Amino acid sequence: MPEEGLAEAFGVTEAARAKINLALHVTGQRADGYHLLDMLVTFADCGDRLGFLPAQADAFTLSGRFGETLAGDGGTNLVLRARDLLREAVGVLAFPVHIHLEKNLPVASGIGGGSADAAATLRGLMRLWGMSLPVETVAGLALKLGADVPMCFESRPLIARGIGEKIEAVPDLPAFAMVLANPLKGVSTPEVFRRLATKNNPALNLAADLAGTAGWLAAIGAARNDLEPPARELVPEISAISAMLHAEGALLTRMSGSGATCFGIFSNIAAAQQAAAALHDARPDWYFQATETVSGGM
Ligand code: C5P
Repeated sequence: MPEEGLAEAFGVTEAARAKINLALHVTGQRADGYHLLDMLVTFADCGDRLGFLPAQADAFTLSGRFGETLAGDGGTNLVLRARDLLREAVGVLAFPVHIHLEKNLPVASGIGGGSADAAATLRGLMRLWGMSLPVETVAGLALKLGADVPMCFESRPLIARGIGEKIEAVPDLPAFAMVLANPLKGVSTPEVFRRLATKNNPALNLAADLAGTAGWLAAIGAARNDLEPPARELVPEISAISAMLHAEGALLTRMSGSGATCFGIFSNIAAAQQAAAALHDARPDWYFQATETVSGGM
């Protein structure tokens, strides 16, 4: 559906931007099994889109390239869980709603699709239901939905620590042109964590004198995604994808989240678009998307 189409049909719309882990260090594990992470995160200008409309009864519809993938999940969708959780918190104000999800991002792919959808649902329904909750209440609801939901609620460059709930904005992070690439093999996040060889890796330590895009690229290049080695065991195509992005001229490539989506950073959006087109020609059955990330100053 074109952007105006969704806005015309649904009074309230929200973008659920793809979440990109520029770095992800696993630094420990909590007693409950969740892992302690240091993450440098940014958000892309591509993603899912959601529409919200008052209705006689609750309804949920899907469209988009990956909409079919979610059609059979019988209400376990994070969008519906976010709706129900928020409704519990606000009570009578929460009239029935038709939610539409345009699913443009591959599912279970390390770029936060489900988490971004849940966060966008919280934002959209607070607007539709005409209410504002204290920031800490919303942050608590977001975290209940998943470790990545609080940062997707922010949707701007940030460093997240803890399991993802300790968030600090990074206003200096520049925008990057990139290609997102995925072999369309879903990855189970718990399975990737289970395969980690070591859980106590060095913390994320960004240089103090970060200056401009080159400075940030060097700092990101020196960081890691500790989930990449175990994810490569599960999805060997990740190695091929990194090599393909490099061959197309990427300045830096890395996997995002628990995979399998990898990003390649390019010098500008035209170069990224050209690379995405070439990669699509080589593997039309995979997912390639050129995009720009938001800058910290937005
Ligand atoms: O919080 P979320 O539902 O996104 O996490 C999915 C799974 O990933 C968790 O059940 C847990 O097994 C693993 N995980 C983890 N440490 C984190 C985040 C997720 O071990 N910080």
